[in-house]
Amino acid sequence: MNPHGTVFGFKSGDKGPLAGEVLLVPLLAKPQPPMELVARIDKLCGDAVSELLAVKAVREEVGHLSHTTRSGPCRRVLLVSLGAAEKVAAHEIRNAAAATARWLTAERLTSATLWIDGLATSGVDQATAEWAIGLALAGFRFTGYKERDEKVPTRVQVYVRSSESGHVARVRPEIRAALTVAEAVNYTRRLAHEPGNVINPATLAAEARKLARAAKLKCTVFTADRLKQMGMNGLLAVGQGARYPSCLIQLEYRGAPRARATTVLVGKGITFDTGGYSIKPSSGLDGMKFDMSGGATVLGVLKAAAALKLECNLIGLIAAAENAVSDKSYRPGDILKMMSGKTVEVINTDAEGRLVLADALWYAQQKLKPSALIDVATLTGGVGVALGTAAAGIMSNDDALAGDLGEAGRRTHERLWRLPLWDDYKELLKSTEADIKNAGGKRDAHCIAGGMFLKEFVKKGTPWAHLDIAAVANPENGKGPTGKGASGFGVRLLIEFLRFRGA
Ligand code: BES
Ligand code: MN
Ligand code: ZN
Repeated sequence: MNPHGTVFGFKSGDKGPLAGEVLLVPLLAKPQPPMELVARIDKLCGDAVSELLAVKAVREEVGHLSHTTRSGPCRRVLLVSLGAAEKVAAHEIRNAAAATARWLTAERLTSATLWIDGLATSGVDQATAEWAIGLALAGFRFTGYKERDEKVPTRVQVYVRSSESGHVARVRPEIRAALTVAEAVNYTRRLAHEPGNVINPATLAAEARKLARAAKLKCTVFTADRLKQMGMNGLLAVGQGARYPSCLIQLEYRGAPRARATTVLVGKGITFDTGGYSIKPSSGLDGMKFDMSGGATVLGVLKAAAALKLECNLIGLIAAAENAVSDKSYRPGDILKMMSGKTVEVINTDAEGRLVLADALWYAQQKLKPSALIDVATLTGGVGVALGTAAAGIMSNDDALAGDLGEAGRRTHERLWRLPLWDDYKELLKSTEADIKNAGGKRDAHCIAGGMFLKEFVKKGTPWAHLDIAAVANPENGKGPTGKGASGFGVRLLIEFLRFRGA
């Protein structure tokens, strides 16, 4: 298979001639770059920087690019505008890096020198890490099934340079950590993109096992017979019409003593969502291979946590099933006895995510004693109606957990917006024949109804949060550092959460 997109490699060295085909110079529009910095870079590129500055090439618009060519050892120079110092945020630095990445690949360049002195904003080290993430994420394309993809270079070597001695050596670990996270995000994105004829519950489990081997994680896959023994009838019912039956995938990372708390992440792993008998219209089927994005995010977080050797205990669960249509599929009207003992009347077979997650959440609480239980799911189209693609929805029974996740979201710009789970909404779950129903007839508060349903399977003392990523997992808006297609939303957020919460 072809590699996917462009991989950015980083090399550092403070001395010698410029190695890259182009010199990348990120600069603030305000305050103006110090004279001695400009002079120093000018010396390497025949005054290109001051010439570009003279024609106001550096703008307040972040990510504005100005290019010039000249003869001599340094033929190309690209000034990248970072805007005003007081306004430039980490995500804008990543966007500027992403714009640069798109320019580099469009020009089919395979090497560049990144001059990081000009990144002197709040913290050069952090800003350099954002550059690394921005470039690495923007390089991703899902093109592995093309016979050949000659449009973009497969590898771009970036040489990191600075005039401050020891500077590049100092940021090296930050760059490495940033690239580790970016690699995990791109892994998640690739997996999310894999089509439904490639990824089914069985092949998703195989992928998890492969990751476990490479990252030294413990992997357990509960196949259908085990699920039956454990009474996970929600997870089983959703997958009963498909060729490959449902399974529950468990991945364990132990980075802290066993006695310490364990965070459990639960991912929705619907490998394709037809809607079942409550079948989706053709337009609604588009993109339903992405319905295992939450599960892919969980795999990516485990991959990154292990690679970064985070000091925490982390267990990932993926409730994997294909919501297919066949004579064996579950039907509207079916009543399911869930693992928790609660009965659910199936009103709509397209509200399948909550059924598979409910059993996984219950299993987590019975067997894994989580100190925090977080599910990640493309659960409802309703979350996009409420928030668009600017934020994912978060619903939680615990203010501290919701607060910490929200903070991690602000830092990574994978923002979360909280929606309420008030008792008033219990109305939405009322069933005459079973304890609860899986969907209402009306369109009111769809996203919250999903959260309310899941809450029925969370015990009082378990701090739990539900992230509805349906609208952000595959926003297709083509902007931002991840461009079009799967975003890998949640990987950076959850890694940040684990880093500063530590448990
Ligand atoms: N996988 C979908 C949600 C979804 C929709 C994800 C659009 C990404 C883009 C989910 O299983 C679903 O079908 N939800 C229904 C719930 C309804 C039947 C209560 C929805 O949102 O319409
Ligand atoms: Mn559905
Ligand atoms: Zn779904």
